[in-house]
Amino acid sequence: MDTCAEGELRSPGELRSARWLGRRDLKTFGHLSRLKQMGYAEEDFEGRPVIAVVNTWSDINPCHTHFRERVQDVKRGVLQAGGFPLELPALALAENFQKPSTMMYRNLLAMETEELLRSYPVDGVVLMGGCDKTTPGLLMGAASMDLPAVFLPAGPMMRGCWRGQTLGSGSDAWKHWDEYRAGNIGECELKAVEGGIARTPGHCMTMGTASTMTAVAEAMGFSLPGASSIPAVMAEHGRMAAACGRTVVTAVAAGRRPSAILGADSVHNGVVTALALGGSTNAVIHVIAMARRVGIPVGAEVFEELAERVPLLADVRPAGTHLMEDFYDAGGLPALLESLRDLLRPDAPTVNGRTLGENIAGARVHLPAVIRPREEPVSTVPALRVLRGNLCPDGALIKPSAMDPGKMRHTGRALVFDDYTELKRSIDDPATEVDEDTVLVLRGAGPVGGPGMPEWGMLPLPKRLLEKGVRDLVRISDARMSGTSYGTCVLHVAPESAVGGPLAALRTRDLVDLDVRAGTLDARVPAEEWEGRLAEVRAKRFDGDRGYLRLYRAHVGQADAGCDFDFLAGVGGPEPEIH
Ligand code: FES
Repeated sequence: MDTCAEGELRSPGELRSARWLGRRDLKTFGHLSRLKQMGYAEEDFEGRPVIAVVNTWSDINPCHTHFRERVQDVKRGVLQAGGFPLELPALALAENFQKPSTMMYRNLLAMETEELLRSYPVDGVVLMGGCDKTTPGLLMGAASMDLPAVFLPAGPMMRGCWRGQTLGSGSDAWKHWDEYRAGNIGECELKAVEGGIARTPGHCMTMGTASTMTAVAEAMGFSLPGASSIPAVMAEHGRMAAACGRTVVTAVAAGRRPSAILGADSVHNGVVTALALGGSTNAVIHVIAMARRVGIPVGAEVFEELAERVPLLADVRPAGTHLMEDFYDAGGLPALLESLRDLLRPDAPTVNGRTLGENIAGARVHLPAVIRPREEPVSTVPALRVLRGNLCPDGALIKPSAMDPGKMRHTGRALVFDDYTELKRSIDDPATEVDEDTVLVLRGAGPVGGPGMPEWGMLPLPKRLLEKGVRDLVRISDARMSGTSYGTCVLHVAPESAVGGPLAALRTRDLVDLDVRAGTLDARVPAEEWEGRLAEVRAKRFDGDRGYLRLYRAHVGQADAGCDFDFLAGVGGPEPEIH
């Protein structure tokens, strides 16, 4: 018989969910009756931690198709450990389909995650993501809500194939598209590549943003050891999903919150990981945003400083030759990290209660061609360089490991496009003046202008240069670039042109000087004239915006601040009243 008085907790009350489920009052009566409506008995939930399973499965996201079944593995693990799992669907952020860009909606997923956790009776959470922006979106939201959280990475898809030739996500799409435009392959071949490049569930299997960010999440302590390297369709992925369920229940019992995990050391480990993988430049924006959620003022310089010391060891496309399933067979992320132990902060805590150093102890590299020894890195060129100059006073990025080494120092005349539509319309126009020294410039593609900073940074090359065999030009934009892209692409120019940044003052035929080693990017325009042009630049007006886009443009930060909303920095916020 229950003897507690009205309003008192029926269970000890350490659990946050007890405010919804553990009192003797009318509200709890309503909550319990509705759980029973769904077929649950009191034995299912009474006294048990409620574990949200935030699932980004959707019919529109090919990278997460297996999440529909995988969530059952997570629930099995939660039940095994004595928790009560509840699946909460969230935005899928399907990289290929969502326009204008998933980046615009990353902050919406972060908000949704935070508010799902805040507004429902939740004690801990398993976050199911992997396709590009889902990883940072989920983690940013969970970090701000600060409930115990385990990240379950979707895992990469298996390799693609065409006529016996291995195909990798993204990189081979761009490559074969250029060959098609150059007339080297026909319609039939292109269709066959289209059907062979993505053949199983899972995220892109090159070292794009997905593979980079899931590995960064693991190195930062939010995933179980090795989780990010397991291909989506492997049986081990199901076992790992169940382990995530068990782990989060123990994390709730131990009160192991994101704020205890996400600190300067875990950020450092995440950056080292991104660099050693030759990871996506998108990681810079996402790590900055995640760190700022917990008050760590990180900038791109952290990446640059570590890039001088961290060797690129993962021989995975686009910087290398292999794919993620090879990386998994080679020992996966724990093996890579163990070989970099002296560069890591191994005492950083992780979600399973052990330190990162304990998690990776003894991991061995099985295929040194895939995870290279320290003395034989994939590249000795730093993975990332921050550029500054009169075109990018708040910084811009370039990925030296993915560019033509012959363009490390380059001067060329600018060919400026105001937006992507103009670029597409004009790039193959015979009247457009362009040669192999031209610097292609795209503006209006930043966080506000894009909007959402689309991955347009690998500007398409003019067809007539492709036909002449040219495969790279210096390209500059305030956009981002897919991690699977390559080329001499200056990205993330800040401040962007749409808010009045200096890219807006550049004109076609201006000389542009790029010096990657010196870290400079400048328009060679006399200072007085440049100042005069800057004085005339105005922020663009966007009068027709409504809804989320209006909120987004009003509050999004620039690339150097992680493109987060100004009102989302930090942790906490009031708990909902339950009346
Ligand atoms: Fe989902 Fe590439 S499209 S990770």
